[in-house]
Order: sequence, then C-alpha cells, then structure tokens
Amino acid sequence: MQEHDCSPLSDYIEYPEAEMLERSQSFYNDIKRRHSIRSFSDRPVSKEIIENCLKAAGTAPSGANHQPWHFVAVSSAEIKKQIREQAEHHERGFYEGRAGEEWLNALKDLGTDANKPYLEHAPWLIAIFSQKKGGITNTDNEEDKKTNYYVHESVGIATGILITALHNAGLTTLTHTPKPMSFLNKVCQRGDNERAYMLLIAGYPAADATIPAHAQVKKPLTDIATFL
Ligand SMILES: Cc1cc2nc3c(=O)[nH]c(=O)nc-3n(C[C@H](O)[C@H](O)[C@H](O)COP(=O)(O)O)c2cc1C
Repeated sequence: MQEHDCSPLSDYIEYPEAEMLERSQSFYNDIKRRHSIRSFSDRPVSKEIIENCLKAAGTAPSGANHQPWHFVAVSSAEIKKQIREQAEHHERGFYEGRAGEEWLNALKDLGTDANKPYLEHAPWLIAIFSQKKGGITNTDNEEDKKTNYYVHESVGIATGILITALHNAGLTTLTHTPKPMSFLNKVCQRGDNERAYMLLIAGYPAADATIPAHAQVKKPLTDIATFL
C-alpha cells in the first residue's frame, strides 16, 4: 500500500457470533417493515430528525470519497406546492403517453397516476442531487472543481442509507422520480453542475395508507443470491 496519512480503526465493534446472528435477523425483521406509501399525514416531523438521517446518509461510501451528493430538505409549504405543480405537470405527460405501454403496464399494479397530493401533505420532501464535479472540498469556482467518480453508484448508496435511516427513525417514505426531474434544480436553487437524482417524501403515514399487493412480493433469497 502506498504511504498515506491514516489512523487506527478504533470504532469497530466485534460482536460475539450469537449476537451477530441475532442482530442480522433483527435488522432484517425491521427493514422488511419498510414500505413505500403514497398517502402521508401532514403531522410535522422535527428538523433535527431529518438532519440526523441526512448525516447518516452523508457517511455513505463514495468514489474517491468525493461525496458527490447534495440533499435539499423542503418543509416550506410554498416550495412543496411548486414541486407538486411541476411534478404533476410532467407526470401527466408521462401517464398520457410518454411512458409507453410496457412501462404503464408495469405500473398498473401499484395504482399510481399523475396526481401527487402527498407532495404537499407530507412534512418533508428531500430532493437529492448528484454532482459530476466537486471533489472532497467543494469550491464555487467551476474551473477548480475536481471530477467525481462513480457518481450514480455513490448517490444510490447514500440514498439507500437515507431511506434506511428515515425508516429506522420511525418515518415512512416514498421514492419518487417525476420524469423529467430537471425542474427541481430551479425550485431548489441548485446549479447546472448538479443533476436531480431522486425525490424522497418522508413523514408519518396517513391513517388510510395502504401498500399494494404487488409491492409486497419480494424475490426469495434463492432468486437474488448465489453462494459459490
Ligand atoms: C428508483 C426508483 C424510482 C421510483 N419511482 C417512483 C415514482 O416515481 N412513483 C412512485 O409512486 N413510486 C416510485 N418508486 C417506488 C416503487 O414503486 C416501490 O419501491 C416498489 O413498488 C416496491 O415497493 P416498496 O418500496 O414498498 O418495497 C420508485 C422506486 C425506486 C427505487
């Protein structure tokens, strides 16, 4: 290994094997209660909870540790309204033909359509942006910005941790990808160097929230994993 500045791994915790087994089972039992929902309560959620979940997301591994992400957490009613109006506008085009027959058929079992009232009901919308350039210390000077690596993969991992952290905190989420999502740059005041990656809706579920039967079918381990 090349010489580099480093420090001992001091925060690693080794659990006895029985405890590892218990922890792995109990994490699975908990994460399998995560469901995407499309009906949120307007009950407020404190900013501190969202901040902690974002800090958890910010610990994600990333190409060359460039952390090519930016999260815009929106609780402003005015901005949520703008996001809903624009998302519904684009989604109408999607559902009225742009998606194509095959994609619309794949969505049938989820019961989704162009109406997104939850974009205003939910207490928090988290717009996630990816950065093609920036490096580990971001600078406002475009010329000085370093190339980021494995941007898509890195932001995907950070988003996964964020969803898990929100679930762990006791919140429900929806991963939403209005198509196209570029309107989010303007609404969230992010520059051209950033690309809207995903919109997460987070909050308490509405009393009548449901989960589609289609979404409850998860492939068995034998289908998703191979041990060699
Ligand atoms: C990348 C991605 C994009 C998604 N986009 C949407 C979306 O635009 N609208 C929506 O209602 N659900 C969307 N979903 C949610 C999926 O429909 C949902 O994850 C899937 O049906 C499985 O349900 P579950 O999350 O409850 O396990 C998206 C999920 C992912 C991972």
